[in-house]
Amino acid sequence: MPLPSVLRDRLRLPVIASPLFIVSGPDLVIAQCKAGIVGSFPSLNARPVSQLDEWLARIEEELAAWDRDHPDTPSAPFAVNQIVHKTNNRLEQDIELCVKYKVPLVITSLGARTEVNDAIHSYGGLVMHDVITDSFARKAIEKGADGLIAVAAGAGGHAGTLSPFALIQEIRAWFEGPLALSGSIASGRAILAAQAMGADLAYVGSAFIATVEANAVDAYKDMIVESSASDVIYSNLFTGVHGNYLAPSIIHAGLDPKTLPQSDPSKMDFGTSGSGFGSGGNQSAKVWRDIWGCGQGIGAVTARESAGQFIARLADGYCEACAELAPMAETALRQPARS
Ligand SMILES: Cc1cc2nc3c(=O)[nH]c(=O)nc-3n(C[C@H](O)[C@H](O)[C@H](O)COP(=O)(O)O)c2cc1C
Repeated sequence: MPLPSVLRDRLRLPVIASPLFIVSGPDLVIAQCKAGIVGSFPSLNARPVSQLDEWLARIEEELAAWDRDHPDTPSAPFAVNQIVHKTNNRLEQDIELCVKYKVPLVITSLGARTEVNDAIHSYGGLVMHDVITDSFARKAIEKGADGLIAVAAGAGGHAGTLSPFALIQEIRAWFEGPLALSGSIASGRAILAAQAMGADLAYVGSAFIATVEANAVDAYKDMIVESSASDVIYSNLFTGVHGNYLAPSIIHAGLDPKTLPQSDPSKMDFGTSGSGFGSGGNQSAKVWRDIWGCGQGIGAVTARESAGQFIARLADGYCEACAELAPMAETALRQPARS
């Protein structure tokens, strides 16, 4: 099935920059869209709700100005992420603002709701829902999502545990619509690999934390540059749901990453309450602010640079990988059938 034009026609690379709690705001989103990939942010990063109105107005205005000045390299569309969980008491107001600004793409996570999809469809917007298993994927499509984001093992934030090969294979067995793959993608070569597996788009998160435009403290950016996959710990202690975090940030909070206790599921908290966490350690430390989320793909991040520079590197790597693999594809296609 062809990709909807919003995800096809204005992209320099088949990439959605994923929403990052606290980290992604208008500066990063605008830079990502100008560089030709879908930029996104969680609506909850704009506080209070009135700030969301201001952010959306600014993004719309700056991208329109860019498009007027750069007709040959227009900006990519942007996306807003909605946490569709019962603890999110802003959902209705935030959806109203997405409708007001006709946000081209809405990414829903932690719950699929028909009325949210209907509201976005009312103006022709597209909804992609993020899932960690095939059964969640089926539920999301039943409830009216247009596309899916397969969140595989190794992703930053609330990652799944399934291999990307397994997850994409199962979803692609029945779903022909827009499909993005998430989890440790941080290079041009990995973007092409996601497409080879059957995804339409790569969904890239943690690598953007080290960019100039990201709303993250210098120590967090440096830790992304200096760390690798073995520094990433999978734990449910901090929000009640399993996610990936940087071990050195856990140590700074006074906890031993090797002996983290399990969380109490009744205290589920996605960082929106601002409360401390868990037992032991520094009780004033907060998840996301002090305990830093991160996926396993950060070995590819070797410098702090602007989002535009990083995306240009992704594009170079993607083109190199395409060129390298093209002769192999030609050889495979020339082989006679053997039966
Ligand atoms: C610091 C951080 C914050 C995140 N916040 C959100 C969020 O608010 N909403 C959401 O849907 N996903 C969130 N995610 C998950 C990402 O959107 C995405 O699935 C993930 O970053 C992709 O894997 P990667 O980081 O290995 O590229 C977050 C991830 C990180 C690392």
